Amino acid sequence: MSLDFSKNFLFGCATASYQVEGASFEDGRKPCIWDTFASIPGKVYCGDDGKVSVDQYHRYKEDIELMDKLGIQAYRFSIAWPRIIPNGRGEVNPKGIAYYRNLCEELHKRGIKAYATIYHWDLPQTLQDEGGWTNRQIAYDYLEYAKACFDNLNDVVDSWITINEPFCITWLSYLYGAHAPGYQDMSLAVKAVHHVNLAHGLAMKYYRDKGYTAPIGITVNPQTPRPATRKESDIEAALLSRALETEVFLGPYTGKGYPQILTDKLGITFPIEDGDLELISAKVDFFGINYYNEYPVSADESNPLGFAQQPFWERKTNIGWPCDSEGLFRQLKWLDEYTNHTPLYITENGSCEDDKLTLDNRVHDKERINYLYNHLEACSDAIKAGVDLRGYFVWSFIDNYEWTEGYSKRFGIVYADYKTLKRYPKDSAYFYRDVIAGYGKID
Ligand code: NOJ
Repeated sequence: MSLDFSKNFLFGCATASYQVEGASFEDGRKPCIWDTFASIPGKVYCGDDGKVSVDQYHRYKEDIELMDKLGIQAYRFSIAWPRIIPNGRGEVNPKGIAYYRNLCEELHKRGIKAYATIYHWDLPQTLQDEGGWTNRQIAYDYLEYAKACFDNLNDVVDSWITINEPFCITWLSYLYGAHAPGYQDMSLAVKAVHHVNLAHGLAMKYYRDKGYTAPIGITVNPQTPRPATRKESDIEAALLSRALETEVFLGPYTGKGYPQILTDKLGITFPIEDGDLELISAKVDFFGINYYNEYPVSADESNPLGFAQQPFWERKTNIGWPCDSEGLFRQLKWLDEYTNHTPLYITENGSCEDDKLTLDNRVHDKERINYLYNHLEACSDAIKAGVDLRGYFVWSFIDNYEWTEGYSKRFGIVYADYKTLKRYPKDSAYFYRDVIAGYGKID
């Protein structure tokens, strides 16, 4: 067991616009749903918002210089819709485009690849006012926004990700109510699922028709829970949970359509129109995978979904999520088969820890190092077992706005002092630097 990666394996780091940029109302940017959500008392820890965050909008050069020092090979960032088309629909904002062009050029100056996610949750508020992802029109608005990204930045972006984590945009935001806009309504969530999938499909068709060549894919956060016990009912519960939270996206993307079990067991039907499924099943060049944890699941009749997560008794990170690197290995194997050996990238993996800046201006985050080591090892083992895994992006480059947790939870390999906005690489940053340089592997 070791970290055994070929020289072609890509090591990157990731962030997302609302979480790191700050400069919320500069250069024409207008409010997004997270600006609104954060202003509602009780929705976000301490009412924290993204107005300043780590101010990457003004400090991207400093951040890229630090990435370069660490040997980072690719930076995954996202493109804020409210900067590119501030009203959600209509005019493209040249200042928004200029920011991302400058960012990509700065990355290239240092030999770092630009991995751009188009949508990472900062939906313009104006579109939410029309129903957000529950309104079919949004898929066509997303298409215009994606076109603005492709047509203006295609020469500087090395790889595209259409959408980040459809699960969170839909179930988490419209059924579980945890993320903006915070609804708890199955009928709304079902529409959101189909419209997010359609948006992805429309962007894929445009991109292919234009003949663009940079690799393009979508990032999902698959839930592939294991049954809590060997009981038949728990095994079925785990399968139902996987269908609802994962196959509902990957099924249509891989031409299998929506899982029948959702109609049979939960009575769910999606608002599909003629031609939708064909668009949605456009072949991607890769799937991005965000993996943090795996839960045991059991049958639970008291839950309207028929299943429920069970306690995890081993180590959890500071956000309460199970540390389970074996789950990542299992998931990669399953994905490899389910997607018919489509190339995969881990577009996010990382750990939230209770970091403290010590007198030596360091953060001795050995739990995070341990977490990263184990998950990288799972990646290395999956490759040995035949999975076509091509790269790994640590979440995150730097501490940032952790959605409903505000600034109280830290995932970075670089520590952010939110008062001075100074950056301090944690021990895990140096560990990652050494992994990239070949640590754990002797040719
Ligand atoms: C996945 C999301 O893409 C990212 O925005 C978030 O911060 C991390 N998970 C950690 O929760």
